[in-house]
Amino acid sequence: MTVNKKQKITVAVLMGGQSSEHEISLISACNVISAMDPAKYEIIPLGITRGGEWLLQDREKPAINETDPKTVQLSPGGKRVSFFPGDGTASFKVDGQTLGPIDCVFPVLHGPKGEDGTIQGMLKLSGIPFVGCDVLSSAACMDKDITKRLLSQAGIKNAEYLIAEKDGPDLHFKDAEESLGTPMFIKPANQGSSIGVFKVRTEEEFENGMKQAFKFDTKLVVERGVEGREIECSVLGNTRPVASLPGELILSDDFYSFETKYISPDGAKLQIPAELKDGELSALQKTAIEAYKALECSGLARVDFFLTEEKEWVVNEINTLPGFTAISMYPQMWEASGISYPELIDQLIELALTRFEVISQLKSAND
Ligand SMILES: Nc1ncnc2c1ncn2[C@@H]1O[C@H](COP(=O)(O)OP(=O)(O)O)[C@@H](O)[C@H]1O
Ligand SMILES: [Mg+2]
Repeated sequence: MTVNKKQKITVAVLMGGQSSEHEISLISACNVISAMDPAKYEIIPLGITRGGEWLLQDREKPAINETDPKTVQLSPGGKRVSFFPGDGTASFKVDGQTLGPIDCVFPVLHGPKGEDGTIQGMLKLSGIPFVGCDVLSSAACMDKDITKRLLSQAGIKNAEYLIAEKDGPDLHFKDAEESLGTPMFIKPANQGSSIGVFKVRTEEEFENGMKQAFKFDTKLVVERGVEGREIECSVLGNTRPVASLPGELILSDDFYSFETKYISPDGAKLQIPAELKDGELSALQKTAIEAYKALECSGLARVDFFLTEEKEWVVNEINTLPGFTAISMYPQMWEASGISYPELIDQLIELALTRFEVISQLKSAND
């Protein structure tokens, strides 16, 4: 199915979710909904509470305080949704009334249980096309250890690291310092929004960082601190992905922490497009696409880099459902590259439908 004017496409927009990025997801989703052309799309906003309940939200007002990351929340009074999976006829019901059939789901969810392959698995099993990376790439990009293994296998530079597991042998400061130097970055393998990320220099900071980070995950990544500019690149596409102009995070804080991201955003300035010298742009875009392919991404992803003094592009991480507010890097980098926010949404839905069609046409064991 293609986006056309005769037939409206019914899109369920998932918003909120169970991760620490619930609020950002609400803001992202409100932006997505208001940018979707009502002549093209029938929109069904579905809120997911922190506890995991699915609620039908009002199309006109899916969330309240939708511009404030501190107070935004799902509009109250949403009714519980039941879900009827099925190839081509999947639907949601509220009070016995059918919403759908659903042509496509747009999971505007960030972090665990949204960006990590779990929702994607549910949708895939239910026979519903969905925007963004498939199950494998969503899960692989969520786990920073797996991401790094696949990047290294493809010959793409990323920060040297060690793994610490809750039930594994203790990682001692002296050993970590010897192989990685200081500062080091301690991170839960599966998180986002800089939650549980610690920049450490001393043994005391290291021990405390490890203890705190283990509260969020049973596996930690301990990385060598990379000195360099933080530059991000948007990638879009299925089999022939394209890379946008990059954006740079200019930080006045120590690193891009949770506080800098959401509480005191004055600590970071976005420079779009980033200022690069001749040759740097093409090397960045090439590496971004290589990283996207190495992780088998489809639909979209934002590839985050450090550009070192030695002019090396070091991949920090790949976000498969990056922030999607009107002021977020991902859509802004496309805007600077000539694709408007509403056009970007059209392309993402088109890519979701195309991927679904390609997979549906494959021969199955029952054919
Ligand atoms: N190895 C590193 N060297 C230097 N800075 C880092 C390193 N790892 C993370 N950071 C800083 O910490 C921030 C958050 O880390 P990141 O890996 O992006 O976690 P998240 O997935 O939570 O965004 C980065 O944006 C960067 O400012
Ligand atoms: Mg990050």
